Amino acid sequence: MYSPKLSADIKKELENLTSLGKFKVEREIDGLQGPEVTLNGKSVLMFASNNYLGLSNHPEIVKAAKSALDTDGYGLSSVRFISGTQTIHRALEKKLAQFLGVEDAILYSTNFMSNLGFFASLVNEPFGAVGVDGKPAVWKDAIYSDALNHASIIDAFKLCAREHLEKRIYPHKDLQALRTMLEADNANPPVGGLRNKIIVTDGVFSMEGDAADLAELVKIADEFGAMLFVDDAHAVGVLGATGAGTPEYCGVHGKVDVLTGTFGKALGGAVGGYVAGRAELIEFLRQKSRTYMFSNSVPPSVVMASIRALDLLKEDPSLLKRAQSNAAFFRAGLVNLGFKVLEGEHPIVPLMLGDAKITQEMSKRLLEKGVYVVGLWFPVVPEGAARLRFQVSAAHTETQLKKALDIVKEVGTELGLI
Ligand SMILES: Cc1ncc(COP(=O)(O)O)c(C=O)c1O
Repeated sequence: MYSPKLSADIKKELENLTSLGKFKVEREIDGLQGPEVTLNGKSVLMFASNNYLGLSNHPEIVKAAKSALDTDGYGLSSVRFISGTQTIHRALEKKLAQFLGVEDAILYSTNFMSNLGFFASLVNEPFGAVGVDGKPAVWKDAIYSDALNHASIIDAFKLCAREHLEKRIYPHKDLQALRTMLEADNANPPVGGLRNKIIVTDGVFSMEGDAADLAELVKIADEFGAMLFVDDAHAVGVLGATGAGTPEYCGVHGKVDVLTGTFGKALGGAVGGYVAGRAELIEFLRQKSRTYMFSNSVPPSVVMASIRALDLLKEDPSLLKRAQSNAAFFRAGLVNLGFKVLEGEHPIVPLMLGDAKITQEMSKRLLEKGVYVVGLWFPVVPEGAARLRFQVSAAHTETQLKKALDIVKEVGTELGLI
């Protein structure tokens, strides 16, 4: 049994979180995820899920998952390399690679796991380096990471042995600062030199909804002989002419070295992550990546539903068009009401309010009137940059979007914001 002191410490920390406004309350949805959900017996419009294509409860996805239970069962009771690989796992990996315009892909249980697994296996690998005179082998890889990259990337760096990692953080999307860092490392490399340089960015940033300038990043990576790593969790299935994500949106489809992403947002909304890229890199991850090797394989129902999601995206281009046009409609609607909205084309539409208290009050009143949207404030976003983060879906009807805008107008007026 753990000590009374630890128990008291934990309780105190929970109180701390509450007093700092950082305590997360989990609202319970009664039944299905969708553009409209039931909360405490009341129907509310959902603007707080990553259900960008409306596939979380799409009949075709549900059907594919159900049918997989009959054909391929519930679970594998194994990791991939022991007895957890079915033909459908490889089928999904190949289909995904083709969709993304790369040679191969590898599935993980989540995108969090794929990010952890990628960096730890690459940076910690000696690649033949040997120690001299009984001393351990010396090598260093440098990562150049956007300041607003996702938590899973930040944690991935923590799994890299400190002595092998040079970590540089560049201000959000400041590619001049990135260039300066790369030039400085060329001119003045750390003792022992740099083995690999890896530029690391989210494709679309979750708090801002803005896209990385991948066209420029591909150029910079080529110029400096660096690997370009893009976590496209929010953009895969959403941005670009075919939904292939930020690389396609930026005109560099197939030119990004490493892509990671999730099936837990636009592409079905359950779970499942991946790394996609060159064949030798994917094979290396299969052999070396611990979050892949020592964690169970993705369940068949999720695999088959993910395959169906990729097929649906192709068969029904209206899904992607609606995700994109609904986002544009809603963004324009908020701007027309007189709100400050971050620019972009992604269905993440941040309404900037600045003040944390106003943001908390506005999200509370919106929910009371039937709009479910998440408010974000310091320390999740910088101080003074509090916001409501609307997330639009292809499944929203025009009537629902207009109703939400009317309610936002009403609450904004009540609070004297417009
Ligand atoms: C940019 C980014 N990367 C990774 C993840 C983690 O994805 P998953 O839920 O598949 O672990 C998320 C989810 O919030 C994300 O936004």
